[in-house]
Amino acid sequence: SSYCNLNNIISGTTRSGRVIRGIPEWNVVVINNCSCAQSKIRFDCKEFRTIEDVSPSILSVQGDSCLLINGNPLMGFASVRFSYAWDPAFVFLARSSHTTCS
Ligand SMILES: *[C@@H]1O[C@H](CO)[C@@H](O)[C@H](O)[C@H]1NC(C)=O
Repeated sequence: SSYCNLNNIISGTTRSGRVIRGIPEWNVVVINNCSCAQSKIRFDCKEFRTIEDVSPSILSVQGDSCLLINGNPLMGFASVRFSYAWDPAFVFLARSSHTTCS
């Protein structure tokens, strides 16, 4: 149904406890808090920086936005995790997605 939308894409950031070259590492979890899959999930990534490589198959920085899992569907109530290192932490806000319900 159409009730799943961008507002259901939630990201949470917590300190991993690791420090890389003096820079704190953060664990990010992105959750699709709705029953329908959502694909082509993009975050605003304008100010995002990291000294730790993030696999582009998980988060691909493309100009001012970041594409999650190559645009593949994040299933209902599924989550994706990744880590990066920067100071301060970055707030990942979902900018666009495509909802598919079957
Ligand atoms: C997930 O969705 C439910 C139902 O809409 C809502 O009550 C809950 O607060 C949401 N969880 C988070 C972490 O926002």
